[in-house]
Amino acid sequence: MRVLGIETSCDETGIALYDTEHGLLGHALYSQVDLHAQYGGVVPELASRDHVRKIIPLIKKVLNDCDTAFEQIDGVAYTAGPGLIGALLVGAAVGRSLAWTWQVPAIGVHHIEGHLLAAQLEEPAPTYPFLALLVSGGHTQLVEVAGVGQYTLLGESVDDAAGEAFDKTAKLLGLNYPGGPALARLAEQGNPDVFQFPRPMTQRPGLDFSFSGFKTSVLTTWRAQEQTEQTRADIARAFEEAVIDTLAIKCRRALQQTGLTRLVIAGGVAANQRLRTRLTQLADKMGNRVYFPRPIFCTDNGAMIAYAGALRLAAGQCEPLKFNAHPRWAITELPLYD
Ligand code: KG4
Ligand code: ZN
Repeated sequence: MRVLGIETSCDETGIALYDTEHGLLGHALYSQVDLHAQYGGVVPELASRDHVRKIIPLIKKVLNDCDTAFEQIDGVAYTAGPGLIGALLVGAAVGRSLAWTWQVPAIGVHHIEGHLLAAQLEEPAPTYPFLALLVSGGHTQLVEVAGVGQYTLLGESVDDAAGEAFDKTAKLLGLNYPGGPALARLAEQGNPDVFQFPRPMTQRPGLDFSFSGFKTSVLTTWRAQEQTEQTRADIARAFEEAVIDTLAIKCRRALQQTGLTRLVIAGGVAANQRLRTRLTQLADKMGNRVYFPRPIFCTDNGAMIAYAGALRLAAGQCEPLKFNAHPRWAITELPLYD
């Protein structure tokens, strides 16, 4: 079964073609970073309009690159939420319309399910069950994944997500949007021993996270120092260390508590090289195995949506012509998959 995947939940238009027999055939991504950079963050209305401009040319490009005529497409998968409602509706309307025109089934995919399953696009793919650490701009969650649609939430952030903490800290330090990758680059120049930030919620039991306190710690530290480039880099490094250390402590605890032996890292922050190295070391030490999607499949992309949608469509699931998008959507509301 050959499935066209469409991702438009935020500021990236992602398109991909996944074949249940041959795997991922191709993918393309258009990032709106330059459009939003001048405003210091994503402007929802501009995001929707840019998806409208880019989505059809990108679909044509992927079909062309993959030598696929539309008659060869057996289904369409689009991100139905969570995300920005206007942006979601662009992908949903285009995906649903194409499916109707081509007379094939369509399905609305949960964006987080896409992230959770993205590592399955890699070799070797993790087998079920596994522990997933999802670290994106909107979510920080530890999830036990027993199979497609079988998700148990073990812990999550009670306030800011890890990616949000990266973005906000980057802004405080005067870095441009998108802050996460910029902060990680700056941290490369920093000395890890100059500043030390707390590891929130690691001293008490449980698997929840809290990242909102970093804003105050970072700002107070920055204001108390002579504001040189080196200080900025040293703070960036200390912040990155604190977030990574906190995530690693909670991953170790979750692996110990559940007895799971496979750890999957997903979401935009999973593209962070230092986090990848740290969690690989942790898994090695525990005799466990860690899996990451390639960095471009950690951040938002069409491939993970095509993949998750293809699984559900191949299992006979699809949606009626009446479609909806969900700006907020709990992953526990998903139907079981068999
Ligand atoms: O998964 P994603 O692309 O979008 C959401 O679903 O939210 O994640 C985006 C988040 C942003 O907060 C971004 O700053 C962060 O991932 N991010 C990073 C890195 N690359 C992206 N954070 C730290 N280090 C990186 N290399
Ligand atoms: Zn995402």
